[in-house]
Amino acid sequence: MSQQLIDQSVNGIRMRVCVAGEGPPVLLVHGFPLSHRMWQAQIDHLQQQYTVIAPDLRGFGGSGVTVGTVSMEQHARDLSELLDHLEIKEPVILGGLSMGGYIAWEFWKHFPEKLKALILCDTRADADSEEGVNNRLKMVELVLRHGPQAVASAMIPNLLSVTSREQSPEIGQNLIAEIESTEAEGIAASQRGMAERSDFSGMLERIEVPALLVVGSEDILTPPAVMQAVSAQMPQASCFEVSQVGHMAPLEAPGQVNQAIEKFLASC
Ligand code: MLT
Repeated sequence: MSQQLIDQSVNGIRMRVCVAGEGPPVLLVHGFPLSHRMWQAQIDHLQQQYTVIAPDLRGFGGSGVTVGTVSMEQHARDLSELLDHLEIKEPVILGGLSMGGYIAWEFWKHFPEKLKALILCDTRADADSEEGVNNRLKMVELVLRHGPQAVASAMIPNLLSVTSREQSPEIGQNLIAEIESTEAEGIAASQRGMAERSDFSGMLERIEVPALLVVGSEDILTPPAVMQAVSAQMPQASCFEVSQVGHMAPLEAPGQVNQAIEKFLASC
């Protein structure tokens, strides 16, 4: 089955997007500071029944970079415009991991008519603490001064479980290569955008679309308790916990996550 990489002009930048398969549209939004490639196992699997649309967000992968701050709302606006360019007329099932989840909340807020359901992986609804914001701004400094190499290796313990790191070291190596090939300005811009993102925790009960939440049992950044609390407040959500994996559940346990997603999509 064919997977196409398309370069599309969107809101003044080049946006690279992988489009695969045929059927109801599933839009997959990657985490920070990665690209659509983190979804490869989901693209390969879901393309049998769905049109999978997996873009590189502004500043990442093969997409154009904006210097300064890229807000989560801007990313959501890019996604909406991209869907228009691709002539996707049906509401989408939007899957987002971590930063992709922050963007999913904005997409729900601004484009509810384009949203059918949500798959939220390893993410949270609240905004950062003051300490969290300061840590992001420190990382911005570091990346702009010393390049992505200065942060790539250090991020891995936060992204992958001990089991994944021990049993599948290539996952970490691929993530490091991906981060190191990302432009420093792209990383800085979305990091600043995340630092000033909105708090959606008070809005969860209004998000009435069906939602599947997926979380790694060893996710340090967005632990299961955080995801379970989000799930409990959303009217139509359920939470699936994947054992022995960390923050990158779809990449660390593709088989289990694909099965959960497939079951959820069939119910939508
Ligand atoms: C991600 O995986 O997208 C990041 O952990 C998001 C964040 O830094 O909050």
